[in-house]
Amino acid sequence: MSLQHLISIEDLEHDEVVQILDTAEEMLPIAQRQRNSVPTLRGKVVCNLFLEDSTRTRISFDLAAKRLSAEVINFSAKGSSVSKGESFKDTALTLDAMGVDCVVVRSGSSGAPLQLSHYLDVPILNAGDGWHQHPTQALLDVFTMRRHLGDLAGRKVAVVGDILHSRVARSEVQALKLVGAEVVLVAPPTLLPPAVERWGATVATDLDAVLPEIDVLYLLRVQRERMNSAFFPSSREYARIWGVDRRRLDLLKPDALVMHPGPMNRGVEISGDVADSDRSVITEQVTNGIAVRMAVLYLLLAGAGRADAELTPEVTR
Ligand code: NCD
Repeated sequence: MSLQHLISIEDLEHDEVVQILDTAEEMLPIAQRQRNSVPTLRGKVVCNLFLEDSTRTRISFDLAAKRLSAEVINFSAKGSSVSKGESFKDTALTLDAMGVDCVVVRSGSSGAPLQLSHYLDVPILNAGDGWHQHPTQALLDVFTMRRHLGDLAGRKVAVVGDILHSRVARSEVQALKLVGAEVVLVAPPTLLPPAVERWGATVATDLDAVLPEIDVLYLLRVQRERMNSAFFPSSREYARIWGVDRRRLDLLKPDALVMHPGPMNRGVEISGDVADSDRSVITEQVTNGIAVRMAVLYLLLAGAGRADAELTPEVTR
């Protein structure tokens, strides 16, 4: 893989996406704990630099690195010198001086991972930056879709909800287009980004009309922490017009999937019974996330970085 960092889906080509998904397929039995950890990244140090809250992404990267036998340093803004006002550059230089081999970074600022790649000479992996990108989320979603639906070319995916504030939506649309899927964005006009017509997706406002036509219903969290004014009248109003409940679930094709990146607002964008229904693959997305992050760490780090990785037959096949 020629890629040095994973900062944006825009940096990937079709074949690189396929390579990541195929590698993740080999990692899945280890992620599901059907097979033991492998020594692939023994001796490598992966630093998880989380400057914004996260549960599943942080734990998932942590587990992914550990299943490949890397050493992991978990670094968050709280409890570190960042809370004493240390600059981003000084934090980066400190990590470099410690000898880390890779930095996984989450930040509330769009562009922070790119900036870090200018300060450090090791692979940088974007774990979500501001409203900009969340590439491993999009890859794990495409991986999950491919496992259920096979080739995604010509498949139709509806991304529904708070698209304006969503880095997931930006990465998701780009990744789906790379594998040939069609995307329809469904959202209140106030939660659509400016120049959305340049995204290469269609836009719809009538959710009920879209549901019978799609193969995947991808729901987004209403991102209240990013809203500085009222984008819709109330949660109840949002749930009625844009939320998915049992009635809407029944409008889907029988084999359509329901997905959500988490964390969910049950009762707002998704009702509890839909989240727990047999169409929902939301918990599978979480497990698949470990496999996809193992694949990305492996492809970026094995044979690169400060020491040579030990490759095992199981994962190099
Ligand atoms: C997403 C994120 O943080 O961007 N969650 C995640 O990584 N699983 C989506 C969200 O917060 O809504």
